[in-house]
Amino acid sequence: MSSSEQVQRNWFEEVMVPCYSPMDMIPVRGEGSKLWDQNDQEYIDFAGGIAVSCLGHCHPIMVEALTEQANKLWHLSNVMTNEPALRLAKKLTEVSFAEKVFFANSGAEANEAALKLARRWAVDVHGEDKSEIIAFNQGFHGRTFFTVTVGGQASYSDGFGPKPGNIKHIPYNDIEALKATISDKTCAIMIEPLQGEGGVISPDPDFLQAVRDLCDQHQALLIFDEVQTGNGRTGDFYAYQGLGVTPDILTTAKSLGGGFPIGAMLTTTTLAQHMKVGVHGSTYGGNPLACAVAEAVVNFIQQDEVLAGVKQREQWLKQGLSTLNDKHHIFSDIRGKGLLIGAELNEKWQGRSRDILVAAGAHGLLLLVAGANVVRFTPSLVITQQEIEQGLEKLDQAISSLIK
Ligand SMILES: Cc1ncc(COP(=O)(O)O)c(C=O)c1O
Repeated sequence: MSSSEQVQRNWFEEVMVPCYSPMDMIPVRGEGSKLWDQNDQEYIDFAGGIAVSCLGHCHPIMVEALTEQANKLWHLSNVMTNEPALRLAKKLTEVSFAEKVFFANSGAEANEAALKLARRWAVDVHGEDKSEIIAFNQGFHGRTFFTVTVGGQASYSDGFGPKPGNIKHIPYNDIEALKATISDKTCAIMIEPLQGEGGVISPDPDFLQAVRDLCDQHQALLIFDEVQTGNGRTGDFYAYQGLGVTPDILTTAKSLGGGFPIGAMLTTTTLAQHMKVGVHGSTYGGNPLACAVAEAVVNFIQQDEVLAGVKQREQWLKQGLSTLNDKHHIFSDIRGKGLLIGAELNEKWQGRSRDILVAAGAHGLLLLVAGANVVRFTPSLVITQQEIEQGLEKLDQAISSLIK
């Protein structure tokens, strides 16, 4: 194979571990909320990876931060630290409750760090017995064995032999179930402050405060997984800030790097001290390139007008979906917050979210699903009104083609 040979989609079956089933087209170029494939076919991007490309593709501020750092220094081991990592950590403590930051490379790794910190704190402060972790049905926290087991979809964690222990699952928004489950043996509760993968499910108004209160009563830690909701996605920098409930540990990834891999665990000084030298680590965590890009992303997103813009775009998109629904009668609910929006299919369309995703792709629109009955929209936070209108037009055509 020479580097000039045209890449073919069927190479995927030939050389890739078959744990994905990617679309047929191969995107080769992106700008803002548009992508182009090998045939120069244009797509409007309502997916942004999976809630990752928060500033769209190749945003000039990200390109500039990356190239500037690429010409200076790419990597150091954690035997040293580096300027971008310390600058980003300082920034994250300024924009959140956190006093201390641990850098990882993905959401799963940030969550793995959070769960290990919670367990270590419990062992140090309360003893081995306080080890139970409570999490929620349909929750998603990543694919390492610990995080996938804490996630609430057995189909993802079954089939790998014995699982990490002492993890319980209860229904989201069910405060009675939580009261019946939590005890002084509970070490931590891990929860998404708006479930993404599980179907775009918002917390009931008083639910998270009740979770916080129960954690306090039982001296358990509250971990918010903001991997999908963080970095402006819901219209607040972190979703917890719009909900008035502060966790003890928060995890962030996806949009943090705007497309460059990075994750982080944020916490307090009191808790952080349980991660002494040697307790945890990561070769690439805090990589200068990743941190330089993330710093540019955070600086941009934290601006009031950008966050207000997310709320404005939420209105445009929800309004457009609602108008489409008046025409086609396909959704029973349009929900979510900021630019994490889910449209649930009605009775007649049960199980067909993937059909809609495929039809949209054929009409030049990239979407996501959240299970078989929810179409999910997580566009760039700076998508233009015109791009939203173009995308909705393509969705209209895709749905019409399915109705025919
Ligand atoms: C809420 C949440 N947590 C964790 C993850 C895992 O992140 P990653 O795929 O970067 O490991 C995801 C990914 O979809 C997520 O939505």
